[in-house]
Amino acid sequence: MALAIRTHEHPQNLEQQALRDEALRGFAASPKAMSPKFFYDHRGSQLFELICQQPEYYPTRTEETILRLAADAIAELAGRNASLVELGSGASRKIRLLLEALRPARYLGIDISREFLDICTRRLAADYRWLDVHALCADFSQPLKLPAEALGQRPLAFFPGSSIGNFDSHEARAFLRNLHQALPAGSGLLIGVDLVKDRGVLERAYNDAAGVTALFNLNLLERIRSELDSDIDPQRFEHRAFYNEQASRIEMHLVSRDKQQVRIEDRVFEFAAGETLHTENFYKYTPGAFRALAGECGFVSVAMWRDPAQLFSVHFLRRE
Ligand code: TRP
Repeated sequence: MALAIRTHEHPQNLEQQALRDEALRGFAASPKAMSPKFFYDHRGSQLFELICQQPEYYPTRTEETILRLAADAIAELAGRNASLVELGSGASRKIRLLLEALRPARYLGIDISREFLDICTRRLAADYRWLDVHALCADFSQPLKLPAEALGQRPLAFFPGSSIGNFDSHEARAFLRNLHQALPAGSGLLIGVDLVKDRGVLERAYNDAAGVTALFNLNLLERIRSELDSDIDPQRFEHRAFYNEQASRIEMHLVSRDKQQVRIEDRVFEFAAGETLHTENFYKYTPGAFRALAGECGFVSVAMWRDPAQLFSVHFLRRE
Protein backbone atom coordinates (compact mmCIF):
# COMPACT_ATOMS: atom_id res chain seq x y z
CA MET A 1 0.00 0.00 0.00
CA ALA A 2 1.20 3.55 -0.66
CA LEU A 3 1.76 5.74 2.33
CA ALA A 4 -1.67 7.25 2.01
CA ILE A 5 -2.60 8.75 5.33
CA ARG A 6 -6.07 10.13 5.35
CA THR A 7 -6.13 13.40 7.18
CA HIS A 8 -9.52 14.54 8.41
CA GLU A 9 -10.31 18.13 9.26
CA HIS A 10 -12.12 19.12 12.40
CA PRO A 11 -13.89 22.46 12.75
CA GLN A 12 -12.11 23.84 15.82
CA ASN A 13 -10.02 26.91 16.49
CA LEU A 14 -6.55 25.54 17.17
CA GLU A 15 -4.67 28.54 15.89
CA GLN A 16 -2.53 31.15 17.53
CA GLN A 17 -5.60 33.12 18.43
CA ALA A 18 -6.38 30.40 20.98
CA LEU A 19 -3.03 30.80 22.77
CA ARG A 20 -3.53 34.56 22.90
CA ASP A 21 -7.07 34.29 24.26
CA GLU A 22 -6.01 31.76 26.90
CA ALA A 23 -2.96 33.78 27.99
CA LEU A 24 -4.99 36.96 28.39
CA ARG A 25 -7.72 35.10 30.27
CA GLY A 26 -5.34 33.09 32.44
CA PHE A 27 -3.05 35.98 33.44
CA ALA A 28 -6.07 38.06 34.45
CA ALA A 29 -7.57 35.23 36.51
CA SER A 30 -7.09 34.95 40.24
CA PRO A 31 -5.24 32.75 40.99
CA LYS A 32 -3.45 32.91 37.64
CA ALA A 33 -3.79 29.71 35.62
CA MET A 34 -3.55 28.42 32.06
CA SER A 35 -4.81 25.33 30.28
CA PRO A 36 -2.12 22.65 29.72
CA LYS A 37 -3.22 22.27 26.10
CA PHE A 38 -0.79 24.99 25.13
CA PHE A 39 2.32 23.08 26.18
CA TYR A 40 2.28 21.07 23.01
CA ASP A 41 3.95 23.06 20.28
CA HIS A 42 6.71 21.17 18.49
CA ARG A 43 9.32 21.80 21.20
CA GLY A 44 6.78 21.01 23.91
CA SER A 45 5.95 17.69 22.29
CA GLN A 46 9.67 16.88 22.03
CA LEU A 47 10.30 17.79 25.66
CA PHE A 48 7.36 15.66 26.66
CA GLU A 49 8.91 12.66 24.93
CA LEU A 50 12.08 13.35 26.91
CA ILE A 51 10.17 13.53 30.20
CA CYS A 52 8.90 10.04 29.49
CA GLN A 53 12.50 8.78 29.39
CA GLN A 54 13.57 10.25 32.74
CA PRO A 55 14.40 7.66 35.41
CA GLU A 56 12.14 9.30 37.99
CA TYR A 57 9.19 9.38 35.60
CA TYR A 58 7.76 5.90 36.20
CA PRO A 59 4.35 6.14 34.40
CA THR A 60 5.54 5.62 30.83
CA ARG A 61 7.68 2.55 31.32
CA THR A 62 5.29 1.07 33.90
CA GLU A 63 2.31 1.42 31.58
CA GLU A 64 4.37 -0.10 28.81
CA THR A 65 5.20 -3.11 30.97
CA ILE A 66 1.53 -3.56 31.89
CA LEU A 67 0.49 -3.36 28.24
CA ARG A 68 3.13 -5.88 27.25
CA LEU A 69 1.92 -8.33 29.89
CA ALA A 70 -1.77 -7.77 29.10
CA ALA A 71 -1.42 -7.57 25.30
CA ASP A 72 -2.96 -10.96 24.57
CA ALA A 73 -5.90 -10.36 26.87
CA ILE A 74 -6.44 -6.93 25.31
CA ALA A 75 -6.33 -8.41 21.79
CA GLU A 76 -8.92 -10.96 22.87
CA LEU A 77 -11.23 -8.28 24.24
CA ALA A 78 -10.77 -6.03 21.21
CA GLY A 79 -11.58 -8.81 18.76
CA ARG A 80 -10.58 -9.10 15.12
CA ASN A 81 -10.80 -6.22 12.68
CA ALA A 82 -10.71 -3.59 15.37
CA SER A 83 -10.06 0.09 14.70
CA LEU A 84 -7.55 1.50 17.12
CA VAL A 85 -8.25 5.14 17.94
CA GLU A 86 -5.41 6.85 19.78
CA LEU A 87 -6.24 9.99 21.70
CA GLY A 88 -3.21 12.28 21.92
CA SER A 89 -1.14 10.24 19.53
CA GLY A 90 2.51 10.51 20.40
CA ALA A 91 5.72 8.96 19.24
CA SER A 92 5.23 6.30 21.87
CA ARG A 93 6.21 2.67 21.73
CA LYS A 94 2.92 1.79 23.42
CA ILE A 95 0.88 2.13 20.27
CA ARG A 96 3.34 -0.08 18.41
CA LEU A 97 2.99 -2.72 21.06
CA LEU A 98 -0.79 -2.67 20.61
CA LEU A 99 -0.64 -2.60 16.81
CA GLU A 100 1.52 -5.69 16.87
CA ALA A 101 -0.62 -7.55 19.40
CA LEU A 102 -4.02 -6.57 17.94
CA ARG A 103 -3.29 -6.34 14.24
CA PRO A 104 -6.23 -3.94 13.86
CA ALA A 105 -7.66 -3.10 10.46
CA ARG A 106 -7.44 0.62 11.01
CA TYR A 107 -5.64 3.24 13.07
CA LEU A 108 -6.90 6.76 13.75
CA GLY A 109 -4.49 9.14 15.47
CA ILE A 110 -5.98 12.24 17.10
CA ASP A 111 -3.78 15.06 18.36
CA ILE A 112 -3.94 18.79 18.95
CA SER A 113 -0.47 19.35 17.46
CA ARG A 114 -0.82 19.09 13.69
CA GLU A 115 2.89 18.88 12.99
CA PHE A 116 3.48 16.16 15.55
CA LEU A 117 0.41 14.22 14.42
CA ASP A 118 1.66 14.37 10.87
CA ILE A 119 5.12 13.06 11.71
CA CYS A 120 3.82 10.27 13.94
CA THR A 121 1.11 8.96 11.60
CA ARG A 122 3.54 9.08 8.68
CA ARG A 123 5.99 6.94 10.63
CA LEU A 124 3.32 4.43 11.54
CA ALA A 125 2.14 4.21 7.94
CA ALA A 126 5.71 3.57 6.80
CA ASP A 127 6.36 0.91 9.42
CA TYR A 128 3.01 -0.90 9.20
CA ARG A 129 2.23 -1.20 5.52
CA TRP A 130 -0.81 -3.37 6.17
CA LEU A 131 -2.47 -0.70 8.30
CA ASP A 132 -5.09 1.79 7.10
CA VAL A 133 -3.88 4.99 8.79
CA HIS A 134 -6.06 8.02 9.52
CA ALA A 135 -5.20 11.30 11.22
CA LEU A 136 -7.46 13.86 12.83
CA CYS A 137 -6.16 17.13 14.20
CA ALA A 138 -8.55 17.97 17.02
CA ASP A 139 -8.85 19.01 20.64
CA PHE A 140 -10.51 16.08 22.36
CA SER A 141 -11.41 18.07 25.45
CA GLN A 142 -14.13 19.52 23.19
CA PRO A 143 -17.07 17.61 21.64
CA LEU A 144 -15.70 15.32 18.93
CA LYS A 145 -17.05 14.07 15.67
CA LEU A 146 -15.09 11.04 14.52
CA PRO A 147 -15.08 10.21 10.80
CA ALA A 148 -17.13 7.02 10.30
CA GLU A 149 -14.72 5.54 7.78
CA ALA A 150 -11.92 5.80 10.34
CA LEU A 151 -14.02 4.17 13.07
CA GLY A 152 -14.96 0.94 11.31
CA GLN A 153 -17.11 -1.63 13.09
CA ARG A 154 -15.20 -2.25 16.29
CA PRO A 155 -13.48 0.82 17.63
CA LEU A 156 -11.08 0.57 20.54
CA ALA A 157 -10.14 3.97 21.91
CA PHE A 158 -6.72 4.16 23.56
CA PHE A 159 -6.02 6.97 26.01
CA PRO A 160 -2.64 6.23 27.59
CA GLY A 161 -0.28 8.06 29.91
CA SER A 162 -2.81 8.97 32.58
CA SER A 163 -3.77 11.96 30.47
CA ILE A 164 -7.23 11.63 32.04
CA GLY A 165 -5.48 12.82 35.21
CA ASN A 166 -4.82 16.18 33.60
CA PHE A 167 -8.55 16.90 33.80
CA ASP A 168 -10.29 17.80 37.05
CA SER A 169 -13.28 15.61 37.89
CA HIS A 170 -15.70 17.90 36.08
CA GLU A 171 -13.56 17.97 32.93
CA ALA A 172 -12.91 14.24 33.14
CA ARG A 173 -16.66 13.59 33.15
CA ALA A 174 -17.16 15.97 30.24
CA PHE A 175 -14.37 14.21 28.34
CA LEU A 176 -15.78 10.73 28.99
CA ARG A 177 -19.27 11.87 28.04
CA ASN A 178 -17.93 13.39 24.80
CA LEU A 179 -16.19 10.13 24.06
CA HIS A 180 -19.36 8.22 24.86
CA GLN A 181 -21.14 10.38 22.28
CA ALA A 182 -18.43 9.92 19.68
CA LEU A 183 -18.15 6.12 19.97
CA PRO A 184 -20.81 3.55 19.02
CA ALA A 185 -22.22 1.21 21.68
CA GLY A 186 -19.96 -1.75 22.34
CA SER A 187 -16.73 0.17 21.66
CA GLY A 188 -13.79 -0.48 23.93
CA LEU A 189 -11.84 2.09 25.89
CA LEU A 190 -8.34 1.21 27.02
CA ILE A 191 -7.17 3.85 29.43
CA GLY A 192 -4.03 4.30 31.55
CA VAL A 193 -4.62 5.77 35.00
CA ASP A 194 -1.90 6.66 37.49
CA LEU A 195 -2.53 5.43 41.03
CA VAL A 196 -2.59 7.21 44.38
CA LYS A 197 0.71 6.45 46.13
CA ASP A 198 3.54 7.63 48.34
CA ARG A 199 4.24 11.37 48.10
CA GLY A 200 7.98 10.95 47.53
CA VAL A 201 7.59 8.76 44.45
CA LEU A 202 4.99 11.13 43.02
CA GLU A 203 6.94 14.31 43.64
CA ARG A 204 10.19 12.92 42.23
CA ALA A 205 8.37 11.95 39.02
CA TYR A 206 7.45 15.58 38.35
CA ASN A 207 10.78 17.04 39.51
CA ASP A 208 13.31 15.02 37.51
CA ALA A 209 16.94 15.72 38.38
CA ALA A 210 17.84 16.58 34.77
CA GLY A 211 15.28 19.39 34.84
CA VAL A 212 13.38 18.30 31.73
CA THR A 213 9.95 18.77 33.34
CA ALA A 214 11.05 22.26 34.37
CA LEU A 215 12.00 23.07 30.75
CA PHE A 216 8.67 21.64 29.58
CA ASN A 217 6.78 23.83 32.03
CA LEU A 218 8.79 26.96 31.16
CA ASN A 219 8.26 26.32 27.44
CA LEU A 220 4.74 27.66 27.89
CA LEU A 221 6.23 31.09 28.67
CA GLU A 222 8.68 30.65 25.80
CA ARG A 223 5.68 30.25 23.48
CA ILE A 224 4.03 33.37 24.87
CA ARG A 225 7.29 35.29 24.39
CA SER A 226 7.88 34.13 20.83
CA GLU A 227 4.37 33.76 19.40
CA LEU A 228 2.58 36.65 21.02
CA ASP A 229 3.44 40.31 21.38
CA SER A 230 4.81 40.04 24.92
CA ASP A 231 7.88 41.03 26.94
CA ILE A 232 7.66 38.03 29.27
CA ASP A 233 11.06 36.68 30.40
CA PRO A 234 10.89 32.92 31.19
CA GLN A 235 14.10 33.22 33.23
CA ARG A 236 12.26 35.21 35.85
CA PHE A 237 10.08 32.17 36.61
CA GLU A 238 10.81 28.75 38.03
CA HIS A 239 9.18 25.33 37.92
CA ARG A 240 7.37 23.95 40.98
CA ALA A 241 5.50 20.65 41.34
CA PHE A 242 4.10 19.18 44.59
CA TYR A 243 1.50 16.67 45.75
CA ASN A 244 -1.74 18.10 47.08
CA GLU A 245 -2.91 15.06 48.99
CA GLN A 246 -6.32 16.41 49.85
CA ALA A 247 -7.15 16.95 46.18
CA SER A 248 -5.31 13.77 45.20
CA ARG A 249 -3.26 15.59 42.60
CA ILE A 250 0.19 16.80 41.69
CA GLU A 251 0.04 20.51 40.96
CA MET A 252 2.45 22.14 38.57
CA HIS A 253 3.12 25.87 38.73
CA LEU A 254 5.43 28.54 37.35
CA VAL A 255 6.61 30.71 40.22
CA SER A 256 7.59 34.34 39.72
CA ARG A 257 11.10 34.74 41.14
CA ASP A 258 10.49 38.40 41.98
CA LYS A 259 7.89 41.13 41.85
CA GLN A 260 7.42 41.98 38.20
CA GLN A 261 5.15 43.22 35.47
CA VAL A 262 4.47 41.21 32.33
CA ARG A 263 3.02 42.76 29.21
CA ILE A 264 0.94 40.85 26.67
CA GLU A 265 -0.17 43.09 23.79
CA ASP A 266 -1.49 46.24 25.49
CA ARG A 267 -2.26 44.58 28.82
CA VAL A 268 0.08 44.59 31.82
CA PHE A 269 -0.11 41.92 34.53
CA GLU A 270 1.42 42.17 38.00
CA PHE A 271 3.19 39.24 39.62
CA ALA A 272 4.11 39.40 43.30
CA ALA A 273 7.37 37.67 44.30
CA GLY A 274 6.48 33.97 44.70
CA GLU A 275 3.13 34.34 42.98
CA THR A 276 2.36 31.40 40.72
CA LEU A 277 0.78 30.65 37.39
CA HIS A 278 -0.92 27.27 37.79
CA THR A 279 -0.16 25.32 34.62
CA GLU A 280 -1.27 21.72 35.12
CA ASN A 281 -2.77 19.16 37.47
CA PHE A 282 -2.18 15.42 37.55
CA TYR A 283 -4.99 13.65 39.40
CA LYS A 284 -4.25 10.26 40.91
CA TYR A 285 -6.97 7.64 41.31
CA THR A 286 -7.63 4.45 43.21
CA PRO A 287 -9.05 1.70 40.95
CA GLY A 288 -12.45 2.03 42.63
CA ALA A 289 -12.61 5.80 42.29
CA PHE A 290 -11.79 5.60 38.61
CA ARG A 291 -14.34 2.86 37.93
CA ALA A 292 -17.01 4.93 39.64
CA LEU A 293 -16.17 7.97 37.51
CA ALA A 294 -16.21 5.97 34.27
CA GLY A 295 -19.43 4.22 35.29
CA GLU A 296 -21.20 7.55 35.72
CA CYS A 297 -20.35 8.34 32.11
CA GLY A 298 -21.59 5.09 30.58
CA PHE A 299 -18.40 3.04 30.53
CA VAL A 300 -18.41 -0.28 32.40
CA SER A 301 -15.29 -1.92 33.70
CA VAL A 302 -14.32 -5.14 31.92
CA ALA A 303 -10.77 -5.67 33.15
CA MET A 304 -7.96 -3.88 34.95
CA TRP A 305 -4.25 -4.60 35.17
CA ARG A 306 -1.57 -3.20 37.48
CA ASP A 307 2.19 -3.64 37.80
CA PRO A 308 3.40 -5.63 40.84
CA ALA A 309 4.44 -2.46 42.70
CA GLN A 310 0.95 -1.04 42.02
CA LEU A 311 2.27 2.20 40.64
CA PHE A 312 -0.03 2.37 37.62
CA SER A 313 -3.27 0.88 36.27
CA VAL A 314 -4.69 0.13 32.82
CA HIS A 315 -8.48 -0.25 32.58
CA PHE A 316 -10.44 -1.90 29.78
CA LEU A 317 -13.93 -0.40 29.69
CA ARG A 318 -16.90 -0.99 27.44
CA ARG A 319 -19.09 1.81 26.15
CA GLU A 320 -22.67 0.87 27.00
N1 TRP B 1 -0.58 12.94 31.78
C1 TRP B 1 0.72 12.45 32.12
C2 TRP B 1 0.95 12.56 33.62
O1 TRP B 1 0.02 12.76 34.36
C3 TRP B 1 1.78 13.04 31.28
C4 TRP B 1 2.01 14.51 31.30
C5 TRP B 1 1.28 15.47 30.71
C6 TRP B 1 3.11 15.16 31.93
N2 TRP B 1 1.88 16.69 30.90
C7 TRP B 1 2.99 16.52 31.64
C8 TRP B 1 4.18 14.72 32.69
C9 TRP B 1 3.90 17.43 32.15
C10 TRP B 1 5.08 15.64 33.19
C11 TRP B 1 4.94 16.99 32.93
O2 TRP B 1 2.02 12.35 34.12
